[in-house]
Amino acid sequence: MPQKKRIAIIPGDGIGPEVISEAVKAIQASQAAVETTQFDWSATRYLADGVTVPSDGFAMLARDFDAILLGALGDPRVPSNIHAKEILLGMRFKMDLYANLRPVRLLDESLCPLKDMEPKDIDFVVVRENTEGAYVDAGGVFKQGTPDEIAVQEEINTRKGVERVIRYAFEYCERHTKHDGSPRQRVLMCDKSNAMTHAGGLWQRVFKEVSKEYPQITAQHLYVDALCTQMVRDPRQFDVIVTNNMFGDIITDLAAGLQGGLGMAASGNIHPGKTSMFEPVHGSAPPIAGKNMANPLGAILTAAMMLRHLGLEEATRIEAAVLEAVRQKRTTQDIGGNCGTKETGDWVATRLAG
Ligand code: NAD
Ligand code: IPM
Ligand code: MN
Repeated sequence: MPQKKRIAIIPGDGIGPEVISEAVKAIQASQAAVETTQFDWSATRYLADGVTVPSDGFAMLARDFDAILLGALGDPRVPSNIHAKEILLGMRFKMDLYANLRPVRLLDESLCPLKDMEPKDIDFVVVRENTEGAYVDAGGVFKQGTPDEIAVQEEINTRKGVERVIRYAFEYCERHTKHDGSPRQRVLMCDKSNAMTHAGGLWQRVFKEVSKEYPQITAQHLYVDALCTQMVRDPRQFDVIVTNNMFGDIITDLAAGLQGGLGMAASGNIHPGKTSMFEPVHGSAPPIAGKNMANPLGAILTAAMMLRHLGLEEATRIEAAVLEAVRQKRTTQDIGGNCGTKETGDWVATRLAG
């Protein structure tokens, strides 16, 4: 019998624990060969003992686990958001999870706010650079609290960082088909190189260079503002999009809207060959936390994405069960059902077990 894959579970804050317990339930019901270990890294833990990430926490995750499943971090009791920065951004940066893969897939036409969209029309992925850009926390404030206050927030783009994420996007395009079996054929880089010429210039040069190595793939470009219009005017045109950390954050919340909202969007934070982390795109949604209202399907689809990454075929069955829940409206209110978080997760698990 093959060895079980070892999964670290970090439910986090707010709705994180609610949706992650449904995702774990789905994994267990699918009988995928995994063993899970839970960690309490969260606002509650931080408020209790001041610890965000225990010492050597990231080294332990990389050494002892095949993948990490994370809920969300962010809690009004920690206004500085320091724990989220150290746990979530810490994991992405210190474990060097440089490709944030965010699939944008319309499961059922009932979920899309645009008219006349079918599942085949919305099936693209965003590859978001995940270890640098505007997120590196370079900068500072000067003369704070005075009328002359200055805040500087630098953006860092390295040749290595830009090149590896662009290459990841081309490799992804080459190796993956769309859900209808047709080949992926286009990689689009989005930036703001008309205004941010230094960073944009690097992205432009590297994109042109790397694209030459993949002559069979069509290389395209849009400025990020224009891309936002196109995403709601005609999302059919997109296949693989690669962009920087900040633009990737913004456009994937927009893209989540095409799939039925934040409750439906999955993601992976990946470094090929290293322990990678999987999380729904949404946050901790404090206003609906503890109310059994959060949509768990994004987290369950994230679990499926993680299993597929680990080579476990149960991913396909989990996705099929989610699709069936959507079709039969066994879902939470945000996507038109009248079930709670738990009832939705139970329905998916029962379907998987049957
Ligand atoms: P959010 O994603 O938590 O919520 C945005 C909106 O979407 C809210 O109306 C919320 O109710 C709704 N929503 C989100 N997930 C849902 C779900 N599963 N089912 C139904 N509705 C859902 O974003 P926000 O309000 O901007 O941020 C709240 C907190 O979460 C902040 O502290 C933020 O920093 C944090 N956050 C964390 C992550 C992460 O850990 N990956 C991601 C985004 C935001
Ligand atoms: C996300 C979130 C995070 C990000 C926040 C919580 C720092 O919005 O995962 O999309 O901006 O990356
Ligand atoms: Mn975000």
